[in-house]
Amino acid sequence: MKIFGKTKEEIKELVKSGKVTVAVYGLGKVGLPLALAYASAGNKVIGVDINEKIVDMVNSGKNYLPHEPGVDELLKKFISDKRITATTKLEKAASEADVISIIVPTGIDEHGKPELNAIFSVSKAIGKGLDKGTLVILESTVPPGTTEGPVRAILEEESALKAGIDFGLVFSPERVKSGTVLKDFLENYPKIVGGINEKSTLTAAAFYEAVVKKGVITVMNARAAEAVKVFEGVYRYVNIALANELALLSELLGVDVLEVIRAANSQPYSHIHFPGAGVGGHCIPVYPFFLKFVSEALGMDLRFVNVSKLINEYMPYHIVDLIIESLNEVKKPVHGSKIVIFGLTFRGDIKAIERSPAKQIINKLKQLKGDVYAHDPFLTKEEVKEEFNVPKIEDMWNAFQKADCAVFVTDHSIYKNLDLEKVVNLMKKPAVIIDGRNMFNLSEIRSLVENGKLIYRGVGRSERLLGKYKIDFESILRA
Ligand SMILES: NC(=O)c1ccc[n+]([C@@H]2O[C@H](COP(=O)([O-])OP(=O)(O)OC[C@H]3O[C@@H](n4cnc5c(N)ncnc54)[C@H](O)[C@@H]3O)[C@@H](O)[C@H]2O)c1
Repeated sequence: MKIFGKTKEEIKELVKSGKVTVAVYGLGKVGLPLALAYASAGNKVIGVDINEKIVDMVNSGKNYLPHEPGVDELLKKFISDKRITATTKLEKAASEADVISIIVPTGIDEHGKPELNAIFSVSKAIGKGLDKGTLVILESTVPPGTTEGPVRAILEEESALKAGIDFGLVFSPERVKSGTVLKDFLENYPKIVGGINEKSTLTAAAFYEAVVKKGVITVMNARAAEAVKVFEGVYRYVNIALANELALLSELLGVDVLEVIRAANSQPYSHIHFPGAGVGGHCIPVYPFFLKFVSEALGMDLRFVNVSKLINEYMPYHIVDLIIESLNEVKKPVHGSKIVIFGLTFRGDIKAIERSPAKQIINKLKQLKGDVYAHDPFLTKEEVKEEFNVPKIEDMWNAFQKADCAVFVTDHSIYKNLDLEKVVNLMKKPAVIIDGRNMFNLSEIRSLVENGKLIYRGVGRSERLLGKYKIDFESILRA
């Protein structure tokens, strides 16, 4: 039953009693868990995707997101009681839905221009099937202005209906993280809602009140809701850049960047993030450029984003510098040395490689004629070859034995829990380790370094911290 313009109590009742049909467009890493979350509140759900294979898998209850907790059980349950079905018929699904959620991919191209084609094409199909009284919710991350601008125009053109009057239209960002999507959506965060008019906002807010535990924060309009999501992303991008810059400085100062950041963050106004080998993924390195594009079109340059980009994109090359420096200490050039990259995915414990810094590191090392290999428990041999063009060593212990230099780029749990002494004893003497995520315990590192067994560099943990290097602060500060 249509809910646009109904009261909060009416909407709550309709959702709970299974009278609302929600069509979710895009059954990907976020879309499938989202569809299950809508169903778990009582709604009937139509999952819609252009990929036939995905639609067939959903219809037969086969889970293609094995690392996403809760998805397996809910998918089986809702397929068997027919609360969820999936289809490739985009237009028909729109005509059957009371609420439409759009969660198709967005991105940026190599010139920094937002890629919104999936949003435009899905809006076109939805517009053709759209009925009076349907609530349309855009949930994909987009540049501010997308909902009230192109999405509204396409839906109105195709349906000959008026947004805000005949049908509801809001933006409500997905604030979830791969690996915890169901919990993030249903339990962890309030839902942000901003519509193209008040009636749209109130309807969507009431709908989400009936679905999520943490409630709803309404903002003035769709543009503000779009800004919430990209502001969150920019904050993290800039903060990581700051942490990276402080890491580079810590290397000069001979302090442990982790120790300093942790101590600084014990004060409630300090929220410094952590440095690393580079920023990857389809979110954090992308959203700042949605904002930059729109801000430039409006006549303003985003200077913080520009500076952060320079710093963050330098970090993989800094890792290469650390590799060169450390190999040099054992009198080896990169040329011909066996260098093993541990961790290729952009974040620990997930299978996702978008914009992973491992790629730049590998390419640069190959340019320098390094003999590069990789290990990653989340990727097959074929995937490593295809995406990174290096051989995968299946057995981690064998990889350590082989390496002139071990480079940790991703903080998978399997690496975080390693016994460093065992690793060092397996490697050539002395072992050369570059820790792109500062995973290892400093006192253990220090004793191995002091015993001459290990050459170590972290991001923000330099030779000045571990060696007998003396910085002449007296002449710097007293002169
Ligand atoms: N993955 C995350 O952690 C995350 C977190 C928050 C927000 N988001 C946002 O969610 C959106 C979706 O991300 P994702 O990771 O689920 O993407 P994904 O690539 O895993 O899945 C997208 C799905 O959309 C389908 N699709 C593409 N074009 C379509 C169309 N025209 N009609 C119907 N289906 C279509 C694809 O076949 C695919 O199944 C993005 O805007 C992203 O920024 C993602």
